Amino acid sequence: MLLYIHIPFCDSKCYYCAFNSYTYLHHLKNDFVQALCKQLEFELKNLPKNLIETVFIGGGTPSTLDFEHFEKIFKLLNPYLTTTKEITCEANPNSANKKWLDKVNNLGINRISFGVQSFDDKKLKFLGRNHNKKTAIKAIQNAKEVGFEHINCDIIYDTILDTKKLIDSDLNIIKDLPIDHISAYSLTLEDGTKFYNKPKVKVDDENMAKYLFKRLNKMGFEQYEISNFAKNKNSKSKHNLGYWKYKEYLGVGAGAVGCNGQKRLYTQKDVNMYIDNPLIYSHIETLSAEDIKVEKVLLGLRCEIGVDKKVLNDKELKQVFKLEKFGKLKQTKDKFYANDFLLADELALYILE
Ligand SMILES: C[S@@+](CC[C@H](N)C(=O)[O-])C[C@H]1O[C@@H](n2cnc3c(N)ncnc32)[C@H](O)[C@@H]1O
Ligand code: SF4
Repeated sequence: MLLYIHIPFCDSKCYYCAFNSYTYLHHLKNDFVQALCKQLEFELKNLPKNLIETVFIGGGTPSTLDFEHFEKIFKLLNPYLTTTKEITCEANPNSANKKWLDKVNNLGINRISFGVQSFDDKKLKFLGRNHNKKTAIKAIQNAKEVGFEHINCDIIYDTILDTKKLIDSDLNIIKDLPIDHISAYSLTLEDGTKFYNKPKVKVDDENMAKYLFKRLNKMGFEQYEISNFAKNKNSKSKHNLGYWKYKEYLGVGAGAVGCNGQKRLYTQKDVNMYIDNPLIYSHIETLSAEDIKVEKVLLGLRCEIGVDKKVLNDKELKQVFKLEKFGKLKQTKDKFYANDFLLADELALYILE
């Protein structure tokens, strides 16, 4: 079982971001953490103590919370973390100062994930980020100095500003930093964001994506999922691998989603409503056998985990053989894998048509 905790606060709203996060609700942090603890207690109380394999604290921006908020959450969580292998926390380079990093690391958080996006000040401004190259570098160095075992850096590509020169310059900085994981996301133009419907923001340049992936590979970052690259086996995100293996997960906090394999449980997105009723889901989605199959195929083709042949019927397996002949897939006795994760969606469509 995996545990996801959603912190719905940010210091500013980036122009591309549609995540459930608010810049004007900071006064609700204490009440929110109290509600979150209530939900956590409720979700955990009937579980065996050694069930939580990984924890991911995401958002929004978890580093907008004070250390004291984390202390409260961990007081509750600690009895359940005796065998937990990985605890990740997302952080913004601006709000994650050295003291905060040190303290949350001492609580047991062993993986920190910074929203960096780029080290180019012009691109950062363009994306609506409130940090700059210098603060991002400092935050990563601080995280290493206080003892973080694993450091991830999110970057965004496929913007109109991207050139090979800009990618090279970002990667040259990354090369000298103690980063063991990169999440590289293609910019998506989400409804409700400043970038939505702006044609001059994103370019669909597959060659540039391939260039970025190739360069990351040369630097020793192996692509193990469409957007995720790890320096070594040990630095792959165990939490994300859990999602892609279709493991069950608890979702706690405003706007979090949990899944028990058959049902997806959505908490209230609205922070005030969540505070009033943290134990009431806003809705529950029942997954059909077909939904589960589509998801398993899509998730498996997007990463190194691959797809279990048992999930497909004979007609679909024939499609898999055809795709292997075209050089798009490789097969073992029980599983099949995409040769290029970027083609996962098209391959899934072809197999399940
Ligand atoms: C919750 S944020 C990370 C932590 C913190 N909030 C921050 O941004 O510094 C998750 C990541 O999702 C990615 N992201 C969010 N919206 C995106 C979009 N529309 N297109 C591409 N990447 C996106 C960004 O790389 C971002 O760092
Ligand atoms: S990318 Fe991160 S900091 Fe920016 S608005 Fe989204 S959650 Fe907040």
